[in-house]
Amino acid sequence: MDDYSALGTDFAWGVATSAFQIEGALDADGRQPSIWDDFCRTPGTIDGGDTGAVACDSYRRWPEDLALLNQVGVNSYRFSIAWPRVQPTGRGPVNEPGLAYYDRLVDDLLAAGIRPFATLYHWDLPSALQHEGGWTARDTAYRFADYAGLVAQRLGDRVSDWVTLNEPLCSAWIGHLEGRMAPGTRDLRSAVYASYHLLLAHGLGVEAVRAAATGTPSIGIVNNLSPCEPASTSEADRLAARRADGHTNRWWLDPISDRGFPEDMVALYGVPLPQVAGDLDTIAAPLDFLGLNYYMRMRVRHDPSVATLGYREVPVAGAKTTALGWEVHAPGLEELLLRLTKDYGAPAIYVTENGAAFLDEPDANGYVEDSDRADYLLEHVEAMSSAAAQGAPVKGYFAWSLLDNFEWSYGYWPRFGLAHVDFESQRRTLKLSGEIYARLIREHAGRPQA
Ligand code: IFM
Repeated sequence: MDDYSALGTDFAWGVATSAFQIEGALDADGRQPSIWDDFCRTPGTIDGGDTGAVACDSYRRWPEDLALLNQVGVNSYRFSIAWPRVQPTGRGPVNEPGLAYYDRLVDDLLAAGIRPFATLYHWDLPSALQHEGGWTARDTAYRFADYAGLVAQRLGDRVSDWVTLNEPLCSAWIGHLEGRMAPGTRDLRSAVYASYHLLLAHGLGVEAVRAAATGTPSIGIVNNLSPCEPASTSEADRLAARRADGHTNRWWLDPISDRGFPEDMVALYGVPLPQVAGDLDTIAAPLDFLGLNYYMRMRVRHDPSVATLGYREVPVAGAKTTALGWEVHAPGLEELLLRLTKDYGAPAIYVTENGAAFLDEPDANGYVEDSDRADYLLEHVEAMSSAAAQGAPVKGYFAWSLLDNFEWSYGYWPRFGLAHVDFESQRRTLKLSGEIYARLIREHAGRPQA
């Protein structure tokens, strides 16, 4: 195997999951609906009419998942906390049984020598808040800060690593502009407002976690970023790529880096920001790390028929793609890690998600020989290691995902797991990719003894 010494001996080798995608048990212990419960109930939104009702049943099968984490030998686990379990209506006192679930999960992880990375928001907004405007309403940002403080008060004596938001781009652009994710609206003004209030919530959340957690928590945000390349050498395509970069990357990175919102994009959207004095400072709260979810690069062509953005994505001829049609392009990870280092001065970076959906074919025992996913993982770890050797302060890597799970509007058909899940029996079986990752961790990391 390759030499990943640039990654350091205290590197966090992990896997990532999110609450709504694996937990199921949507009515358990006082939980109330989230916008994803509602979205799944809307006909035509999810492939095959799938829902998160059972998912991987991890709320009940957590011990099995912990056993898998041990089998892979990760030293870190990134999971998300379901706001509608902790505060079922998005406000008010803690719902004790809901928070107790995560309390036990954290204790179990620590007892196993696994470092918990807690994400506070991975898209499951309590429906009650959506009825008051959701992310288009400024108040939701304050509700998030209250929730973040409550969680940090309870878990902050044991959890040191915190993520405020996962991929706000998806919540804002896909959820409010494209309508392909919850809450499913298609409106530019709502999308811009949602993006603004999500970033405000992030900044307020950072303050709340710092105030509530014991010791010195390490706090960051997770963005899904993509290198954006023009489809040709034409000036029109070059400008289209610049707009794609603004929409995908700079809109999310500039404000948290104390640069404000990119002016070219504010002008392009044409929606006055719902800005209140002091917001930009709040949004730019100093961070301990940037989280990078990397899946693909984008190649774009100028297309005046596309409203507002004026570009469309085009496939790269002959490129290898995953089952979702996403190009497999590991150099894009290296490029982004170096950009976060050089252009944004990231103090530390975690690759908080990276993975591939392939159409797995389990044998009679549920075993999947997914050499395509194993190759994907090794190529991307190699690219990350190369960035680290060039000075990128990469501190961890989290494969997406531990388990096959509920892939949002695609339902259950795209499988991202290092472990196969038979959704009938809920049996978990580690795939070849999980075994290869386990070997990589054994050979290059070494896990602190519990
Ligand atoms: O499954 C998602 C995850 O919830 C967020 N990042 C991308 C993954 C794959 O689409």
